[in-house]
Amino acid sequence: MTIATAHARPNIALIKYWGKRDEVLMLPQTGSLSMTLDILPTTTTVELTPAHEVDTFILGGTTASQVETERVTRFLDLVRELAGSTTRATVRSRNEAPTAAGMASSAAGFAALAAAASAAYGLELDSRALSRLARRGSGSAARSVIDGFAVWHAGVDDETSFAEAVEAPPMRLVSVAVNAPRKKVSSRDAMRHTALTSPFHSAWVDSTARDLEEMQAACRAQDFTRIGELTESNALRMHAVTQSAQPAIRYLLPESIAVFNAVQELRDGGLEAYATADAGPHVFVLSQPEDASAVSDALASLGEVRIAGPGLGVRIEGQGTSTQESG
Ligand code: ADP
Ligand code: DP6
Ligand code: CO
Repeated sequence: MTIATAHARPNIALIKYWGKRDEVLMLPQTGSLSMTLDILPTTTTVELTPAHEVDTFILGGTTASQVETERVTRFLDLVRELAGSTTRATVRSRNEAPTAAGMASSAAGFAALAAAASAAYGLELDSRALSRLARRGSGSAARSVIDGFAVWHAGVDDETSFAEAVEAPPMRLVSVAVNAPRKKVSSRDAMRHTALTSPFHSAWVDSTARDLEEMQAACRAQDFTRIGELTESNALRMHAVTQSAQPAIRYLLPESIAVFNAVQELRDGGLEAYATADAGPHVFVLSQPEDASAVSDALASLGEVRIAGPGLGVRIEGQGTSTQESG
């Protein structure tokens, strides 16, 4: 195959990944657990271009920045190494989620790129190998390979750090997108900076490892209340440790805090809902399926609301031989 297209969707972590043990292999300091969404997909096409001397990366219809293109090239280098190829590629990708805004564009983006590139370069990877590969592009992408709920095992090396499906009760995430531009500090830089400068970082790592154990137990027990409590407290701790870096990084805006406050009020009024936010100002609210519409209606004045259910992991949508090859 010399051209392939893949679809992947963002995932939102209920237990967050925020810190790397190994930046080259992209091994996290702790495991994490997420829901892959059934909304806001990314579509990525990789076409081999033997006549080209460099890779080209078109994101959302325009040539991506040098930094973004280099990140794609470094990732394609890994795929080429596995495939024993030196052929350059053109990557065209479109995110329905806003790029670099805390709605997991890097997760959907690198899961889609991992699948499309491995197919275009003729690799046949099983789900575990694909998750390990996607991890090298963006850690959170390891989880967008997987359908529904996924646990990413921290692992001890390249082979053992991958995501796989985990059973969880039926749930929804109501996405509340507030009005905000691209983030100033990428997740990558922010988590490095936090680990290097926050006096609380080791406490974050220890408590997140415990949170993950408890979350997996709560998922097995189908205990929605405990899942929700752990989700909200783990998110607030991630934002606390990020704000305790020097200089501080703050991703939550007043509009985001307003959503957290509104969710607390919903709970006080008897509607079970729990808030989380990734490295950005948008908030995601966990509820049981039967409460999702009420939660969404209650929060609609605070941002653009969408109800997400558990979505599919990455899928190849088409592949073939491109016309570039004969040229
Ligand atoms: P987010 O919160 O959106 O995941 P990150 O800071 O983690 O933000 O990552 C944003 C970066 O991820 C972008 O600047 C770009 O380098 C990369 N990225 C986003 N979407 C894609 C995509 N579809 N294909 C390849 N890389 C992407
Ligand atoms: C807050 O996976 O985007 O969303 O691995 O450096 O690409 P890199 O970072 P990324 O970080 C995600 C951070 C988070 C939490 C999470 O998704 O677990
Ligand atoms: Co990201």
